Amino acid sequence: MHLRTAAARRYAVVLPLLGVLALALAGCSRDQYPQTALLPLSDFARIGDDVQDTTFYWALGVFILVEGALLYSVFRFRGKPEDPEPSQIHGNTTIEIIWTLIPALILAAIAVPTVKGIFETNRTPAGAMKIEVIGHQWWWEFRYPDAGVTTANEMFIPQGKTVELVQNSADVIHSFWPPRFAGKRDVFPGRETRLWWKADSTGLFPGQCAEYCGIQHARMAFHVRSVTPGEFDQWIAHMQSKGPKAPAAPAAAPAGDSLKTASAGAKVQGPGQDSAAGAPQEAEYAKGEKLFMTKGCMGCHSLQAVQAPKGLIGPNLANVGARSHIAAGWLKNTDENLERWIREPQAVKKGVLMPNLGVTVEESRALRAYLRAHQ
Ligand code: CUA
Repeated sequence: MHLRTAAARRYAVVLPLLGVLALALAGCSRDQYPQTALLPLSDFARIGDDVQDTTFYWALGVFILVEGALLYSVFRFRGKPEDPEPSQIHGNTTIEIIWTLIPALILAAIAVPTVKGIFETNRTPAGAMKIEVIGHQWWWEFRYPDAGVTTANEMFIPQGKTVELVQNSADVIHSFWPPRFAGKRDVFPGRETRLWWKADSTGLFPGQCAEYCGIQHARMAFHVRSVTPGEFDQWIAHMQSKGPKAPAAPAAAPAGDSLKTASAGAKVQGPGQDSAAGAPQEAEYAKGEKLFMTKGCMGCHSLQAVQAPKGLIGPNLANVGARSHIAAGWLKNTDENLERWIREPQAVKKGVLMPNLGVTVEESRALRAYLRAHQ
């Protein structure tokens, strides 16, 4: 009985300790924190990370010295009630000069890499590929002026090539922050700001608006999709096929035909679908297309990546079917989420400019099929 109690007591101490240790170690997981600035993946991000590391080690040295001196004094000079009053150092000029001078020298030393880093990050390397970033409440428009391509919320970049972001806002102040690649850069209406980096790695990386910009600021996210230069060229070529069709249609064309130009380049059938399965899919697509034209979606959204109107109210949807997320980078692009978003955007992300349009469940399925085809 006594032994069991002792063992139980030992467990009562060890188990919570192990639990705390597990929690602490969970903080080290790289996979759980993709949006960290401490694991830089670009030249730009490494400049900031180096400054942070330098400052951290300076601070660690100061901490150890100060706390060490404090602990030493606490134990070495512990007072007893009968001790005489210790000698007072208030007004001792020598000591005051020393403890003013040492921190001043440390700050001056830290300023050297900091100021150097500030200048480095503000100097865009020559020959960078331009990407225009336009902040909107609450989503991001990305335009590739050299290729004439527009997209939204998921930025494609080529690994190993420097990109230069030229940033503007359509409404209020935002801040573009892709933590693995670069520091925050505010995005203003009527004023241009720039940001640049060269990505080391490929992959999909989340980013976030970092300046409070209204009630959905926290859900003004985005993704950077870094791909190999070859894949990037393929993507650009693919997007360039999503333009307005040449107006070659005969004059007697059916009325619906001219509307179809809006979705040039859409794929009706997904990969691996046989024609039997494709038939109902095509019907859904056609129904969705009609709804897209009649429900008012077209007023705010463009489906063409080429010659897309600048600064439209809603995000460009040219490749919305292929994006990892919808609703500006925070909602997984599943069929279920896409349908719900179409039906009741105000319930999903209250305050967005897209109103609930009274779309039925059946209609949302058709609209989803139509949008999903825009890969
Ligand atoms: Cu945009 Cu916060």
